[in-house]
Amino acid sequence: MMIEKLFKRVYPQQPAGLAIRPRKVDFGLDGAVPYNWYKESSVFLFLNAVTMLLPVGERFFINSVMYYKNRITEPVLQAQLSGFIAQEAAHGKQHELLNRLLLKDNPKLIVIEKIAKWLLDSGKLFPASFQLAITCALEHFTASFANILFENHAAFSRFSHPAVGELWAWHAVEELEHKAVCFDVYQAVAGGVLGYFERCLAMLVVTLMFSIAVSIGLFISIIFYKGPKNIVEHQGKRPDKVVKAENGNEWLWLAFNVVLRNIGYYLVYFRPFFHPWDCDNSHFVTAWKAAGSAGEVKNFEPEFDQQ
Ligand SMILES: [Fe+2]
Ligand SMILES: [Fe+2]
Repeated sequence: MMIEKLFKRVYPQQPAGLAIRPRKVDFGLDGAVPYNWYKESSVFLFLNAVTMLLPVGERFFINSVMYYKNRITEPVLQAQLSGFIAQEAAHGKQHELLNRLLLKDNPKLIVIEKIAKWLLDSGKLFPASFQLAITCALEHFTASFANILFENHAAFSRFSHPAVGELWAWHAVEELEHKAVCFDVYQAVAGGVLGYFERCLAMLVVTLMFSIAVSIGLFISIIFYKGPKNIVEHQGKRPDKVVKAENGNEWLWLAFNVVLRNIGYYLVYFRPFFHPWDCDNSHFVTAWKAAGSAGEVKNFEPEFDQQ
């Protein structure tokens, strides 16, 4: 009983001033976005693969947590859950807009979306608590990617096409804001000792599946791009050539940032008493808000009040 209590301990609260509210945004994703929207490196090839996974992924997140919505009675968590659902729905819509533009330059990217759909449809064969554990694991992934983005935000916003850079930063901010919601719901409905082993297993499954999906996606993103030769403007090379030749170290940089620098952030998830807010990176949200996002439509009041 004592052990069970420990696994159900009271977790850190959402940092003060960090509300989970959907924002109305308009990034001007109107057909003028180039496939090579990032001008300093080939990181766009990686993110163009990741964005194809997102609309399907966001729908899976929402469905997995909706299943337990009525079992959450704690008012603050209820409100956070509504905020989470509204934010994820908005992410799916905006990435859908971006994806339609990218598909014009590389129609084969649709295969990535199909792989994601197949993987997550397979996930629906598992019990509801395992589906929620999958969502918790993927939310930990998205929070860690958001962390990387904001560690490199100055360069990222400088070299990005404004619409796409703003879109990724907005998504990253909201991933940080709501990073603990699914975890808290999971703890409320399925935590404890068994829940710990389930969420660890889900993380291992997600790590394997995500790695496979992103590797295939990256391959498609590079190989089937048939656009103009000068897709990396300052070098005038095709991305696959850039990757293999002059900028080979770019992939080392990417591997270093995404895998090695992130490994500690990833591994803490396996701690028995882990909570997403053990790592307080809310200062990135504060800084982003202070700088002001060009894509955010000001004076927008959502239809419901979350907190
Ligand atoms: Fe999201
Ligand atoms: Fe999320």
